[in-house]
Amino acid sequence: MRYAAPRGTRDIKDGEARAFQQLEAAARDVFRRYGYEEIRTPVFETAELFQRAVGEATDIVEKEMYVFEDRGGRKLALRPEGTAGVVRAYLEHAWDKTGGIKKLFYSGPMFRADRPQAGRYREFWQIGAEYFGNPSAQADADLLWLVKDLLNAYGLKDVQFQLNSIGCPKCRPAYREKLVKFLHARKESLCEDCQRRLEKNPLRALDCKTDGPKLADAPKISESLCEDCRKHDHELKALLKAPGLEFPFQENPWLVRGLDYYSRTVFEVTAGGLGAQDAVAAGGRYDSLVKTLGGPDVPAVGFALGMDRVARARYGEELDKSVDHEASNRVFVALAGEGVGPRGFEIVKRLRSKGFVAEIGASDKSLKAQLRWAESWGGHYVVIVGEEELKKNACLLKDMAGHSQVELSLEDLKSRIDSGQLARS
Ligand code: HAM
Repeated sequence: MRYAAPRGTRDIKDGEARAFQQLEAAARDVFRRYGYEEIRTPVFETAELFQRAVGEATDIVEKEMYVFEDRGGRKLALRPEGTAGVVRAYLEHAWDKTGGIKKLFYSGPMFRADRPQAGRYREFWQIGAEYFGNPSAQADADLLWLVKDLLNAYGLKDVQFQLNSIGCPKCRPAYREKLVKFLHARKESLCEDCQRRLEKNPLRALDCKTDGPKLADAPKISESLCEDCRKHDHELKALLKAPGLEFPFQENPWLVRGLDYYSRTVFEVTAGGLGAQDAVAAGGRYDSLVKTLGGPDVPAVGFALGMDRVARARYGEELDKSVDHEASNRVFVALAGEGVGPRGFEIVKRLRSKGFVAEIGASDKSLKAQLRWAESWGGHYVVIVGEEELKKNACLLKDMAGHSQVELSLEDLKSRIDSGQLARS
């Protein structure tokens, strides 16, 4: 019996694993400068947390959540997203009682049993951030700048920000009613999902892949915003457009998002070169969520980016390479003969302590086999320690690119290692 990774999952390895490390390292640096602290929440939580936070009538909760019972009969779910768990943690640690402002970031796997396709997985990785306690448009703008800085740091091309306001619990019901009326009049032409969701989650029809394009003359939520929401929206756009700041974005009145917790600002970011699944990041404000989950009125805004997609957009085919050939100073120490192990270790340890990437071979393998190994491992140099050389306190240094080989005294090799350069210029 051979086992395979479950459908929609894969092993993050080779170039993709290196890409993930780089994305996380660059993100940490940006988050630090914006004053965010890291949080690592559990990969599973009480299923009800997501039902309440993300919404019963969303695709995520209706069809995509991995729900299971543990041995104690508790109903749990693998997290389909990061926000609900972070809000749960915010309340559990009573951060609302210590000033209320909290800026947290996270990275890790999320799980949704969606239909797998290129760029869409059942286990995928997100980097995200949540900013609690700031109700003002400045918080939205600050977060948008963060996302932009991050995507710039990643060097993504053709990045586009789409922005909308979806109002608040005060003004959305009236809009919803208008929209339901509009959709009812066209019910027959709507897809099955939208017909079913017509009463429970009509806004989703606006960005439904099938029905969205047919609804260009639907009422726009921007025309139904209450005074406070309109003010917030104006302030944000004024900030983004301020001279000298000029944040590039497009307004998209049909952007509604697939999670129910949003209010006011929502945004989505796409990048080039990704095909159909080109949304690399998304987020928005969720001023009612802390209260929905049993806390006080704490406004919040956040986002998450899809590492799988960002890595693909940034690194392309590099992700499939098993060796990072870019990284220089990879040195393989080949062992040719009896009793050369200790000398080999002396050299490999010195190499590693001076910052080289070093690998030690195996005296049970032939020199030829070790040289093939060194090549597939991506070695730039091979130090060959043979019985003859050992006796002379010497070794051979092979330049894999130049195909040259020289004999060096151990002292010479050590001084070259200590200088960080094996080649003599
Ligand atoms: P989301 O739009 O569901 O938002 O996901 C954010 C990003 O995660 C997407 O733009 C996409 O890049 C990536 N993503 C989502 N599903 C998949 C998948 N099946 N395969 C690969 N990548 C995927 C959220 O999750 C919200 N929690 C964001 C947020 C944080 N809002 C406020 N705070």
